[in-house]
Amino acid sequence: MKTKKIHKPLIYAHRGASADAPENTMASFELAAQYEADGIELDVILTKDGEVVVIHDDDVDRTSNGKGTVEQMYYSDIKALDFGSWKGSEFKGEKIPLLTDVCRLVKDKNMLLNIEIKPTVRSSEIEDKVISICKSMDLVDQVVISSFNHYCMRSIKKKFSKLETAILYQSGIMKAGRYARHTVKADGIHPHKYAVVAECVKSAALNGIKIRPWTVDSPAIFQKMAGIKYITGVITNRPDIMRKALNEITNK
Ligand code: G3P
Ligand code: CA
Repeated sequence: MKTKKIHKPLIYAHRGASADAPENTMASFELAAQYEADGIELDVILTKDGEVVVIHDDDVDRTSNGKGTVEQMYYSDIKALDFGSWKGSEFKGEKIPLLTDVCRLVKDKNMLLNIEIKPTVRSSEIEDKVISICKSMDLVDQVVISSFNHYCMRSIKKKFSKLETAILYQSGIMKAGRYARHTVKADGIHPHKYAVVAECVKSAALNGIKIRPWTVDSPAIFQKMAGIKYITGVITNRPDIMRKALNEITNK
């Protein structure tokens, strides 16, 4: 019987090791490094005064002890909030990171970084800032930028073609590889895990497009994906468990 080839997808920690530490904080990114994730996935939004901060929601309400919309708040005010206690008292005092804080960690640990730009009417401003940070931190070769806003991905590519980009989507895109390659001029697709169907893989293969599904927390789904050549990475809340699952199939 023919044995199925393993392709060792890279493991990206979704908002850090967010199952065990408060999402999008330095604690969760450091834990991801400890868990031997290859990379980190994070979300970025601009503050009122134009700082690029790492946070998923458009407000601080769910993940801090404060209230307010990120884009209408000053960085100094958001920085004073506690982003750890909601997850557990041991994380009390965790601050909101700047993108540059995480870039320093990524550089230090020699990891990969997936920066997701959250949709905003200030798209051009955040695109310019993210590009400038990647360049100044010398991280261009370690970064992939993604967004649900595909205009933003097209724009990043136009502004600085060396940066790898990927379109995010939940479902509903036919021939996603062709759309990414020819319409958006992106290098990858980041579909929801249930959108990774045969037609999607075929279109990615035909167009030389990388696939990194999210959020893959089940070892069984991960191991199945490791048999698909074009799935070059997975985005997971459980990098420790995915590492174990990969070790199991590669050490057989
Ligand atoms: O990048 C994959 C995933 O993070 C997209 O969804 O809502 O978790 O940012 P969300
Ligand atoms: Ca995200």
